[in-house]
Amino acid sequence: MRFSIVTAFPDFFHDFLRTSIVGRALRAGLFRVDVVDLRSFGKGAYRQVDDYAFGTGGMVLTPCPLEDALDFAGKGFVVYPSPQGVPLTQDIVETLFRQEHVVIVCGHYEGVDERFVEQAVDVEVSIGDCVLTGGEIPAMAIVDAVSRLIPGVVGKSEAVTKDSFYGGMLDYPHYTRPASWNGREVPEVLLSGDAAQIEEWRRSRAVARTLSRRPDLLSRCGLQGYLRGGFYLAVEVPFSAADTGRIREWADLCEGYGAVLLLFFPEGPEGGDRAEREKFREELESAGVKKPGKVKLLPSFEHLLRWVGEKEKKKGRPMLVDVSGGEPGQGGGARHWLDLKRFILEEGRPAVFCFRAGDGSKTGDGKNPDRYDVRMIPLQGGRLPLGGRIAAVLDRFLGSR
Ligand code: ADE
Repeated sequence: MRFSIVTAFPDFFHDFLRTSIVGRALRAGLFRVDVVDLRSFGKGAYRQVDDYAFGTGGMVLTPCPLEDALDFAGKGFVVYPSPQGVPLTQDIVETLFRQEHVVIVCGHYEGVDERFVEQAVDVEVSIGDCVLTGGEIPAMAIVDAVSRLIPGVVGKSEAVTKDSFYGGMLDYPHYTRPASWNGREVPEVLLSGDAAQIEEWRRSRAVARTLSRRPDLLSRCGLQGYLRGGFYLAVEVPFSAADTGRIREWADLCEGYGAVLLLFFPEGPEGGDRAEREKFREELESAGVKKPGKVKLLPSFEHLLRWVGEKEKKKGRPMLVDVSGGEPGQGGGARHWLDLKRFILEEGRPAVFCFRAGDGSKTGDGKNPDRYDVRMIPLQGGRLPLGGRIAAVLDRFLGSR
């Protein structure tokens, strides 16, 4: 991968490109950075690169030297750091990491001529709601953030995948020696040597920090890895309507997001006899659903509750979420999916999202409206078919973006 940095102040980059992790990776040839001096494309004896803004205002970089510098740098994905840009986030960093050549154009003074931005810039990014003197420091931030995704730049790949923002959450706090400092103690659990407890503590601190400092991140983070218990999808399937092809699709979706699919069969007091279920299991297996740990067939909702309860004994009573289709309606205490996501994180209990094909009247669910802990306001006004609802819930709760 290659970066080109177009700047009127190349000296800024002298130490940056020779020091620490970036310096070492460049020496090892893991990526390349070319600094392009904008002044060498300036006009006249003074190599002028800027001019007075039309109307009132200060100096603006003129488009011609910028265009020539860009031609010299070669074809690439062009980034222009500016306070007017979209916020630089880890997903933009990942997009840049997927480019062969990233060209960063550093503005100065009042910025660059807007026509150049329109013509040449692929993305305008801001590194925060504050105004710096130019784009050089943001350019360093971009090179730093992108290059650390290149294999070998940061020591262990684990260090990158465990970072803040990788799953969309903030990082947990870190401590080192001494264990006691100025009367402040390192949290005891970290000295316990109990790896599972430490992991659990870190997860809960990451969640608490994110919820209190950056609740806005919630819509973009996946819950997987931050839940104490498991994430289950319970789908009520009347035997008469059980279609192995569709079930296979749901199973594959659940597998993709690391959720467990539970199918239960409400017909009859115990959901039909065992032989019938066994036959259906064989049908599912021949349709390609053969992940016994990830897809569980249960004769009734009560069996399902018992099964999850047993599995999650140590993690607390499973939270039952009603995700039936239906019109949103009013009252009933239904919660918006984002609010529900926060609730699940705060509770930290295993979550079971319960789906059914219709309004429940055919399947007996209508008899048990109170069995759920919480009801989710249907997505898309309840207009999605079951498969779409399953995919949407998996992505909003477990997908990260
Ligand atoms: N140039 C000046 N201020 C900036 C900011 N906040 N982000 C990106 N580029 C800038």
